[in-house]
Amino acid sequence: MLRTLPRLLLLLLIWSPPLPTTAALIQTLAQLILEADAAAANTTTPFYTPLPPTLDPWYRAPLTYDWAQTDPGLVLKLRQAPLLNLTITNALLAYQLLYRTTDSSYNPSWAVTTLFIPRWQARCSAAAPSLCAHALLSYQLPYDTCNVDASPSYGLHFGEPYGEIADALGLGWFVAVPDYEGPLASYAAGVQAGHATLDGVRAVMQVAGWFGLRMGAAKVALWGYSGGALASEWAAELAGQYAPKMVLAGVALGGLTPNVTSVTEYLNGNEGAGLIPQGLMGIASQHPDAFWWIVSRLKPAVRGLFLSVKGMTAAQAIAAFKYQDIYSYFVGGYQDLHTRVMQMMYNVDGYMGYHGVPRMPVFVYNAINDELSDIRDVDELVDRFCGVGANILYHRNTAGTHTQELVNGRQRAFAWLRSVLDGSYDQLYSAMGCTVLNVTYNLAPWVGWG
Ligand SMILES: *[C@@H]1O[C@H](CO)[C@@H](O)[C@H](O)[C@H]1NC(C)=O
Ligand SMILES: *[C@@H]1O[C@H](CO)[C@@H](O)[C@H](O)[C@H]1NC(C)=O
Ligand SMILES: *[C@@H]1O[C@H](CO)[C@@H](O)[C@H](O)[C@H]1NC(C)=O
Ligand SMILES: *[C@@H]1O[C@H](CO)[C@@H](O)[C@H](O)[C@H]1NC(C)=O
Repeated sequence: MLRTLPRLLLLLLIWSPPLPTTAALIQTLAQLILEADAAAANTTTPFYTPLPPTLDPWYRAPLTYDWAQTDPGLVLKLRQAPLLNLTITNALLAYQLLYRTTDSSYNPSWAVTTLFIPRWQARCSAAAPSLCAHALLSYQLPYDTCNVDASPSYGLHFGEPYGEIADALGLGWFVAVPDYEGPLASYAAGVQAGHATLDGVRAVMQVAGWFGLRMGAAKVALWGYSGGALASEWAAELAGQYAPKMVLAGVALGGLTPNVTSVTEYLNGNEGAGLIPQGLMGIASQHPDAFWWIVSRLKPAVRGLFLSVKGMTAAQAIAAFKYQDIYSYFVGGYQDLHTRVMQMMYNVDGYMGYHGVPRMPVFVYNAINDELSDIRDVDELVDRFCGVGANILYHRNTAGTHTQELVNGRQRAFAWLRSVLDGSYDQLYSAMGCTVLNVTYNLAPWVGWG
């Protein structure tokens, strides 16, 4: 039977300046969790209705104190999401955390992550600590849209697309699913996505001990495919400078898109052309000069259609713009997307491999015939990292397309993630340098877009 949440609780941390210490703010989280659990158990109040972020006042930074002065990753709000254990298999409980992060211009921002506690955690107790979870997977879902209402924290109320959260929970892992595009839905903005992913881990690790994660033994890994790999890769390369004390056991990246301009050229005129307007509106939300340039260069007759992606999911945009020449929406065609203001934006947020080197083991899996991104861009990215001592296992799959590799690579990704999270990585994989393999895995039926 469904439990209810009385209201969408505004669990503000109410202080006036001077700001309390981070330690004091974290202390209050224990209280917040008790309140969130009590509220979720309250059966006397109306049914809890999840609202899309634009309509849900919970999705705002706190107004009562200067949250921007807090440390990145600090939890600013927390609530239980009592319906998500019904739509996501193997979840015991789900919580949502709103936390401080940093946008692509290095200004304070915030994001939301959804934390799932695995079903097995019900067996965990002080008397049986070995039955308590010791792994956290931060799973970056490819939501590929500039529409904030398609963020996972809301969308997961309708189920998950690939069943991978359920599988990871089934292995007894805590799973966190960040809305890494942030409050502006900045799809394709690498720095924003990387920061929000890293801060999502920081936020979860502040509270995970209260849910019985064995903090002394805890290991954290990141995983993402396609748009989710974008967030995960940026997190991996930014971690050294942005979260230098964070220990990540490993990062699994499938279907990488290292170069936003080359991806645009691949997509244009093809089945996934709708991801171009999504990507341009998403990345430009972090770059106002480029945003207004794009708007000013759209042909008036098609401007409305182009801008309407702001209200579409990825699948809707793919359906709406299938096989179209997106350059033709612009007065100056292709050139309009390669002016100085646009190039400055791509330089900040669009090219992987220039912001740092992953210091954790990395697994990359990619279809050689990926139709969304040139495999040579992935080869070059891996080469660059390997040239400065990274530890990478790179599988180039001779079979399948971009969408098929999501399925073809899943079991290899799980096996690899298991090894980094259970500590057997050094025995099963090469823990030094790079291993590049051409492999053939052909498990997936043809899977259409969206
Ligand atoms: C349960 O809901 C009622 C009605 O909104 C409220 O008065 C009460 O304080 C709530 N109890 C808890 C524990 O939140
Ligand atoms: C879902 O979570 C609620 C608390 O929010 C809990 O009472 C309920 O038992 C959970 N359901 C399942 C299937 O675990
Ligand atoms: C990205 O791709 C474009 C188009 O293929 C190419 O001209 C450019 O040099 C690439 N940039 C980087 C940083 O790799
Ligand atoms: C993998 O295949 C490519 C062709 O796609 C070839 O150039 C390369 O040498 C092969 N690499 C290995 C390690 O066999």
